[in-house]
Order: sequence, then structure tokens, then C-alpha cells
Amino acid sequence: MEQVGEIQVERVMELEALRRRVAEIESMEAEQRRAEEQLIITDRLASIGELASGIAHELNNPLTSVIGFAQLLLAKDIPDEIKEDVEIIYSEARRAADVMKNLLIFARKHSPAKQLININEVIEKVLALRAYEHKVENIQVVSHLAPDLPLTMADCFQLQQVFLNIVINAEHFMRRESQRGTLTITTRRVGNIIRAYFIDDGPGIARGNLGRLFDPFFTTKEVGEGTGLGLSICHGIIIEHRGRIYAQSEPGKGATFIVELPVPVNNKCQGGINE
Ligand SMILES: Nc1ncnc2c1ncn2[C@@H]1O[C@H](COP(=O)(O)OP(=O)(O)OP(=O)(O)O)[C@@H](O)[C@H]1O
Ligand SMILES: [Mg+2]
Repeated sequence: MEQVGEIQVERVMELEALRRRVAEIESMEAEQRRAEEQLIITDRLASIGELASGIAHELNNPLTSVIGFAQLLLAKDIPDEIKEDVEIIYSEARRAADVMKNLLIFARKHSPAKQLININEVIEKVLALRAYEHKVENIQVVSHLAPDLPLTMADCFQLQQVFLNIVINAEHFMRRESQRGTLTITTRRVGNIIRAYFIDDGPGIARGNLGRLFDPFFTTKEVGEGTGLGLSICHGIIIEHRGRIYAQSEPGKGATFIVELPVPVNNKCQGGINE
């Protein structure tokens, strides 16, 4: 009888170990799928980037001429109604040049100016920059920034640009949905990576759009409100930093943007920088 009991306990333990193993394999498979999806997106964006930078370079010269000649005309003594038209030509050409500039940032190949920095500080800076908007737009920010977060090698202005775009997107969609919102920002170390989560309680992202968020010019903002270049630039910057950026969302349940950056394996230069 006792022996039967022992066998049963053994079976239960074996079953439990098996269950744990299945869960482990499932989570490894999910991670593998996510890595493959990321690779497909990165590949696609790399070819779009090449095309975009070619077009941007070609269009930059004529645009510079349009802007320059419009400026020359504006400096001349011309009738007011013509001046108004030329001002429109000038400002629209400037707008087009800005789009081109952003396309070039998205497709840029050269290395950023990296140094050892603390991601938490960059996030705090971004939150300070947006504090006024958060106050007037009823956006509550909850941050859980890991106090012992390791430093990472990064260009802090570029990272600021990444976090700023994610935060401004969250603000926009939460405001559009309910004129209020909560943005939760968490940082933590997971093995050899630093992970930052930006979680909003806005409308979330339609399933069909999840794979297109990082495509240049993909936007669901109203006409004139967004160019759809923000996240493509973020993607370019994070890939250049050997990191990953991706989104998770259940429609109607908010959106989560996750940025991962590597912890430098050889922290030798830390002393050099602090000296
Ligand atoms: N927090 C979010 N909640 C819901 N949808 C989002 C969120 N962040 C991004 N998106 C979706 O991703 C799209 C692309 O974002 P991206 O930052 O690239 O461009 P944009 O914000 O539309 O324009 P721009 O950044 O040029 O002002 C958005 O238009 C929206 O559809
Ligand atoms: Mg944006």
C-alpha cells in the first residue's frame, strides 16, 4: 500500500516536471517566433531605407533650390498678394525638406556618438520635457525605474528622440480615446539586456497594424497630424544600437512599446569615461 502511495507521488512529480518543461519549450518557441518576426521587419525596413535614402538625396537638391529662390524672391520688393503665394511655396518646401531630413535619419548608416549612459536618466529627461503636457492633458505617469540598472553604450540624444516619440504617440492616442490616460514606464535588467516598457491605456493597436508600425509613412493619425516617420526613425536608431524595439497590444486594452538595449559585456571604458 505504502509502495503504491510512493509510486503515485513519483508520478505526480514527474507530471509536474513535464508540465514545467512544456511551458519552458512554449516560451522558447514564442521567443523564437518573435525574433523571426523582428528579423523580417528589420530586413524589410533595411530595403525600404535604401530606397528612401536614394529618393531623399535626389530630392534634397531641387528642394534646396526651391527654398533658396523663394527666399530670394521674398527679399525683393514684390506685390503683397504674390508675396503671400511665395511664402506658401517657401513654407511647403521647408515642410518637404523636413520630411526628407527625417527619411535620411531613418536610413542613416553612420554610427551614433555613443557613451556609457543610464537609460533611467534619459527617460526622466523626456518625462520632464513632457511634464507640462501631461499635466494639462490629464495624463498620469507612473514610473518604476530600476535603481540598479546597468549603464549602456548609447547616443543619449538619439535615445531621447526614441523615447520622446513613444511617449508622444501614447499621449496622442490616449487623449484621442478618452481625454485622459495613464502611462506606465518600467525599466529592468533581464540577463544581458536592459528592457524599458512604455505601457499606455489608450485604444491599443489593431492586429493587422502591428506588423506595419515601423514602416515609414504608416500612420493612423489624422491628415496633417503625423508623417508616420516617428517609429521608423526609432527602429533605425535602436537597430544601430544593437537593440530591439517592438510593440504588443490587444485592441481596446492599450499598447506596450518595448525597447531593449544590450548591457556592454566589457565595461572597461566605464572608468575612462568617469575619470
Ligand atoms: N501608443 C500607441 N497607441 C496606439 N497606436 C499607436 C501608438 N503608438 C504608435 N501607434 C501607431 O503607430 C503609428 C505610427 O507611429 P509613428 O510614430 O511612426 O508615426 P505617427 O506618430 O503617426 O507620426 P509622426 O511620428 O511622424 O508624428 C501611429 O500612427 C499609430 O497608428
Ligand atoms: Mg509618432
